Amino acid sequence: MNDKSEIKTGEVSRRDFIKTSVTAAAALAGGNVIFAASAKRKLKVALLGCGGRGKGALANCLEAARFVNGLELEVVGLADWFEDRIKEPAGQYNIPASRCFTGADAYRKLLETDVEVVLMATPPNFRPVHFEAAIKAGKHVFMEKPVAVDPPGGRKIIEAGETAQTKGLSVVAGTQRRHQRNYLRTAYAVEHGAIGKIRGGCIWWCGGALWYNTKNPNESDADYMIRNWVSFTEMSGDHIVEQHVHNIDIANWFIGHPPVRALGFGGRARRRTGNQFDFHSVQFDYDDDLHIHSMCRQINGCYNRVSEHFIGSEGATWGDGSNMDSSKSIEIPDFPSHKDPYVQEHIDLLRSIVDEKPINEARNVGESTLTAIMGRIATYTGQIVRWSDLTKEGGQWYDLILRPSAADFEEGNVTAPPDDVAPIPGRDA
Ligand SMILES: NC(=O)c1ccc[n+]([C@@H]2O[C@H](COP(=O)([O-])OP(=O)(O)OC[C@H]3O[C@@H](n4cnc5c(N)ncnc54)[C@H](O)[C@@H]3O)[C@@H](O)[C@H]2O)c1
Repeated sequence: MNDKSEIKTGEVSRRDFIKTSVTAAAALAGGNVIFAASAKRKLKVALLGCGGRGKGALANCLEAARFVNGLELEVVGLADWFEDRIKEPAGQYNIPASRCFTGADAYRKLLETDVEVVLMATPPNFRPVHFEAAIKAGKHVFMEKPVAVDPPGGRKIIEAGETAQTKGLSVVAGTQRRHQRNYLRTAYAVEHGAIGKIRGGCIWWCGGALWYNTKNPNESDADYMIRNWVSFTEMSGDHIVEQHVHNIDIANWFIGHPPVRALGFGGRARRRTGNQFDFHSVQFDYDDDLHIHSMCRQINGCYNRVSEHFIGSEGATWGDGSNMDSSKSIEIPDFPSHKDPYVQEHIDLLRSIVDEKPINEARNVGESTLTAIMGRIATYTGQIVRWSDLTKEGGQWYDLILRPSAADFEEGNVTAPPDDVAPIPGRDA
């Protein structure tokens, strides 16, 4: 999706004075990193949500195991809302029917097995409930972004992440740029003053329309919403949350904290199903006169850009380090990384488990998801929305639960919102 013609990706582009040092722990082989040997260990992994990304994540995890010496990974279970989604991976990984679970409580049954690492790739509205249950059951987790669609869901992720920490469990999120070499190098350079203090910036996910499904005759509302989840805010959080969270996460990471308020606008022009907007434009205010302009669009035939740019008091840089303007001499570690960040995030997860040095990204991804939700509430209502409105008890949006919620799906209490009826800012405040 990145506009390669305009924005260079790949290596941090740097002036001669930004030095590189290669860590001794890693050797590069054909673009991949072979790590030093770890203790011999077997791990049992299972997949919750066997759609496109879930199957991809499982393949990435198995590929990652090749780079964690001494690790043997076994796929021990699959869970999905629909039976037909399970057939293909069950055949591929030879999973017996007794370890394939379907329906609303499939996650509970999966968590009752001896699985040790759960990969979560259902629509995001289910993530807080599934994640909390997995941590309670003592499982390590990889969870796809975003991790919630409403403020209580985002807060539940952060709270369960804290529990994971006390239990020594590892949690990695699918915000893969945090495992991507050029982003890691840029974050390091920025943190060490390469562009001075960040004074402002822009973040973009301007791309084309995603897929959508229409309702089949006699299909339940629940099945329809699950098959068409990228069109309903109750399921996806809207695309400012579902897609743009990646770029919002970079802003929060580089700046070091989430914004304090958001003001924005958006609208719906070409969608036929669901209730999401087609575009959002939000100014995130990080306090101290630091504003980040965020824009995201899902409309075909328009100019596309997926990136981030930051202007500092002493320079500027794109999020991936392209065209860094810096006069500082900073030694940047090489951050050994697999060429595919979707694999690297699993290498980091598996290594942290094997080495018993848990990593925990629940707060990062929870805060970035909440930031995106704050932006969405701002565009839907047309009002200023404060971080405290979502995170402090008594805040205006603290108790906002989008329904049907994950609990409604589990209780069989799902009525789909009408298609093609979107919020009207000012009126729906
Ligand atoms: N990191 C990335 O770059 C990236 C890329 C694509 C998707 N994603 C994320 O991955 C997640 C999944 O996206 P996808 O494209 O695979 O969607 P998908 O529709 O292809 O797959 C989702 C699967 O989850 C199943 N499911 C739905 N509700 C369930 C429930 N309650 N219990 C069990 N299974 C359930 C569905 O039947 C489906 O098989 C989303 O959160 C999405 O944002 C991340």
